[in-house]
Amino acid sequence: MDKFSFGLWTVGWQGRDPFGDATRPELEAPVAVRKLAELGAWGITFHDDDLIPFGASAAERDRRLAAFRAALDETGLVVPMVTTNLFNHPVFKDGGFTSNDRSVRRFALRKVLRNLELAAELGAETIVLWGGREGSETDAGKDVRAALERYREALDTVAQYSQDQGYGLRFALEPKPNEPRGDILLPTIGHALGFISTLQHHELFGVNPEVGHEQMAGLNFVHGIAQALYQGKLFHIDLNGQKGPRYDQDLVFGHGDLLSAFFLVDLLEHGGYEGPRHFDYKPLRTEDIDGVWDSAAANMRTYKILRERATAFRADPEVQEALRYSGLEELAQPTLSAGESIEDFLKADADFDPQKAGERGFGFVRLSQLALEHLLGAR
Ligand code: GCO
Ligand code: MN
Ligand code: MN
Ligand code: MN
Repeated sequence: MDKFSFGLWTVGWQGRDPFGDATRPELEAPVAVRKLAELGAWGITFHDDDLIPFGASAAERDRRLAAFRAALDETGLVVPMVTTNLFNHPVFKDGGFTSNDRSVRRFALRKVLRNLELAAELGAETIVLWGGREGSETDAGKDVRAALERYREALDTVAQYSQDQGYGLRFALEPKPNEPRGDILLPTIGHALGFISTLQHHELFGVNPEVGHEQMAGLNFVHGIAQALYQGKLFHIDLNGQKGPRYDQDLVFGHGDLLSAFFLVDLLEHGGYEGPRHFDYKPLRTEDIDGVWDSAAANMRTYKILRERATAFRADPEVQEALRYSGLEELAQPTLSAGESIEDFLKADADFDPQKAGERGFGFVRLSQLALEHLLGAR
C-alpha cells in the first residue's frame, strides 16, 4: 500500500488567513480519519493542539483521544508522525526553544516532552520539529549564536528523554526561510543538516523538508532532497506545491512547479526513500468541504500519475540511450581508478586533450525534452 499521509491541520484548515476569517466549519478529527481512509490514505499526523486544544481539561483530552483512537481502529489508519505546536499561542511569539524569555523556553520544552509519550503510544516513529517562531524580525533582537545554543540544548534534552523512556523515536527538523517570523532559524535543508552535526544524538536527527519552503528561498528542492538522501537524513517529507519565491502557498502537490514535482517523484521512487509520502498542503480558502476532499484526493492522484510517468521515462529505450549519451552512467564511476597512485594519475595529462573534451555536447536539452514529453503523456 502507498504510504500516503496527511496532517490533520491540512484538511482541517478552516481558511483563516491574515486578511480574513474562516470560510469553513471546524472538522472533527474522527471525521477526517474516516474520510481520508475512504479516499485511500494510509496515515494521519497531527500537532498536539490539533487533536487536543491548548489548555483543554483532562476530561476533554480523554474524550477527544478516545474518539480519535476509535476512528483509527475502525479504519486501520496509522499515525506515523506527530508534531508539537510551538507557534500559535501568544506565549510563543518570540519562539519556543529559542525565546529570549527563559520561562517560555522551559514551558515549550515541557510541551514537547509531554507530547512524546502520546506519539509513542500511538505508534509514531517520527517527531517533526518545525520551529516556525524560532527567529526574529530584527537582527538587534536576537543573538543567533545564543539562540542556536538553546536550540541545541532543547533538542539534546528531547532526544535524551526519548532514549531514557525507550520511546525509540527519530526526530526530523523542518526548515523554512520565513513566515511567520521575518527570518526563521535553520532556514534551509543545508542549514539544518549542518546544525544536526552539532547535536549529541545526531544519529537520531534528520530533516523533514517541505517542497514550498525550499522554493520560497529560490532553491532546487530536488537537489536538497538528493543531498538529504545522500547523507541518510531524509526521515520524512512534506509534499505540496508553491509558485516561486513568495508567501507560503501550501498548494496541492503538483499545483506549483510541476516539472520539479516530476523529478522529485522520480528521485523518491528510484532513490531508495521508503518513508511516508506526507502531504502538508492547504485546501484553497475558496473551497467548501467537497472541495477539501477533492483536494486531498488530488494530492494522491498526482503523486501516482507522476510515479507512472517517471517509470515510463526510465523504461523508454530512447531515454536510456540519452542518459548514456549525457554521461550519467559515467558520473557513477569513481574519478580515480582502483589502486591508481597519485604519481600515475598526475601523468594522465599526456592522454587528455582539453580542447577535444571541450567540444563535446552533453545532450541535456534532448533528455530534458524527453522527460517533459513523458510528463505530458505525449510518449
Ligand atoms: C508550514 C509548515 C507547517 C509544519 C507543521 C508541522 O507550512 O509552514 O509546513 O505546516 O509542517 O506545522 O509542524
Ligand atoms: Mn508550508
Ligand atoms: Mn510542513
Ligand atoms: Mn504547512
